[in-house]
Amino acid sequence: MSEFDTLIAAARAARENAYAPYSNFRVGAALRASSGRIFGGCNVENASYGLTVCAERVALFKAISEGERGFDAIAVVTDAEKLTPPCGACRQLIWEFCGDVPVVLANLQGGVEVHPMRELFPRPFDSSNF
Ligand code: THU
Repeated sequence: MSEFDTLIAAARAARENAYAPYSNFRVGAALRASSGRIFGGCNVENASYGLTVCAERVALFKAISEGERGFDAIAVVTDAEKLTPPCGACRQLIWEFCGDVPVVLANLQGGVEVHPMRELFPRPFDSSNF
């Protein structure tokens, strides 16, 4: 039992709703807000491919649009043996809203790794740059 089990379970549940008919790569994410609320998201693909939105950004935009601002952790779940980290675009967005949170990478086989956001996104561009 780890402190991230609930978050991983939420990401796993969100993954069930993944709309990924083009890649067949189903992703679930979950974000824990400082309010205690957990927001899940799944990837949503599109026939135009480029309009696809990653699970992490769906979770983030759900939370932001509900008025949340502070976040404690984010989890990403796939069925890949090699654990799936957020893509570059998602890292930029996670940094903006979550800062140096623990990023929990998990798969359906029970693999779990926790990486500080700082490690995944070492020299960020953010509002401190201008
Ligand atoms: N994807 C995510 O949702 N999150 C990630 O961290 C990596 C990639 C999605 C986008 C696309 O629907 C599929 O995975 C394949 O790239």
